[in-house]
Amino acid sequence: MNKLSIDQVDLKGKRVFIRVDFNVPLENGEVSDDTRIRKAIPTIKYAVDQGARVIVASHLGRPQGEPKPEYSLRPVASVFGGLLGEPVSFAEDCVGDTAKSAVEALSGGDVLLLENLRFHKQEKENDDDFARDLASLADVYVNDAFGTAHRAHASTEGITRFVDTCAAGFLMKSEIDYFNKSMTHPKRPLAAIVGGAKVSTKLQALDHLVDKCDIMLIGGGMTFTFLKYIGLEIGDNILEEDMVREAGEIMAKAKSKGVRFYLPVDFVIADTIDDDAPVDHVTFQELPKGKIAPDIGPATIELFKLAIKNAKTIIWNGPTGVFEKKPFAGGTMAMVEALAESDALTVVGGGDSVKAVNMAKAADKIDFVSTGGGAFLELMEGKTLPGLAALDDVG
Ligand code: 3PG
Repeated sequence: MNKLSIDQVDLKGKRVFIRVDFNVPLENGEVSDDTRIRKAIPTIKYAVDQGARVIVASHLGRPQGEPKPEYSLRPVASVFGGLLGEPVSFAEDCVGDTAKSAVEALSGGDVLLLENLRFHKQEKENDDDFARDLASLADVYVNDAFGTAHRAHASTEGITRFVDTCAAGFLMKSEIDYFNKSMTHPKRPLAAIVGGAKVSTKLQALDHLVDKCDIMLIGGGMTFTFLKYIGLEIGDNILEEDMVREAGEIMAKAKSKGVRFYLPVDFVIADTIDDDAPVDHVTFQELPKGKIAPDIGPATIELFKLAIKNAKTIIWNGPTGVFEKKPFAGGTMAMVEALAESDALTVVGGGDSVKAVNMAKAADKIDFVSTGGGAFLELMEGKTLPGLAALDDVG
């Protein structure tokens, strides 16, 4: 990555504004998954150890530009402090006098967490004045919020116009490094497993991936739009009529590029997606009317495992079934297991696939589990992330 890195900047005694992605799930006001906080710790710890005055900022949820207690970052501050092993002070606002005086109170090595950036509508509007206000708190800007790097907001993009030194944090760097290792300069064969409910949300990613990968496996609800294209009965499964032609174009492009393209060959079928729904198995040519197929079947699991057996790089985005429901978790869990056991470089991104990896407690067996949902998808689509592009270039 040719972006300035935090470890190339002198931080001692400086006010270092670190944009992180602490957009973590809360249940009953408590953090229910601290992954994103843990992943930001190395950058923050580094700044603390360098004697910086550390100002940490994030958004949480989508509070629509006004303060809403249920979106306060306060509950995150204590979890963050615990994981950092240092006291973390909290400012009730991310700009204005409250933020200014909290920053002025910092000594070298102290850490402050600002309240939710999205309590101000100017954050999402990438408003210049708001970006300037945030910038006035900082001598050095560090972006470690990979998960938000696809947003051109005041704290991810605008602020970089008003701070002289803008660097990437360690998480941002490793996200981009692993992405480049898996997509830009992969060891081949490169296999891409793409799942999820809809072709429409993955179309650009599929189109870009077909140019990059050697093997492509399709799972999840989007499968049925592909099966429709090849003229099959698809039962009561999700169909995007207006995407059937596009699905066909992806298949044709895969063929013309010599990409080995796999669709599921059998399914788990049921009447409902309930936890206790009775299930049966059918081949892809036997999908009955009136039934749904919320998971790939055992033959597909074997086929997919064989298809990726010799891959040197595997990138995965999107589950192959409704894995949150026990009767339909088998396919997705088998993919997690296959990746965990593979000798290939394995990279997983996207909220649902990451959730599946965590459910299987397999994160430590995957080479890289991305913290990005939309940001990871946009990289897969071949897009430039504004939050990354805005950082200082080196070399
Ligand atoms: C995410 O969870 O994908 C990021 O935090 C971005 O959140 P957003 O989609 O609300 O911008």
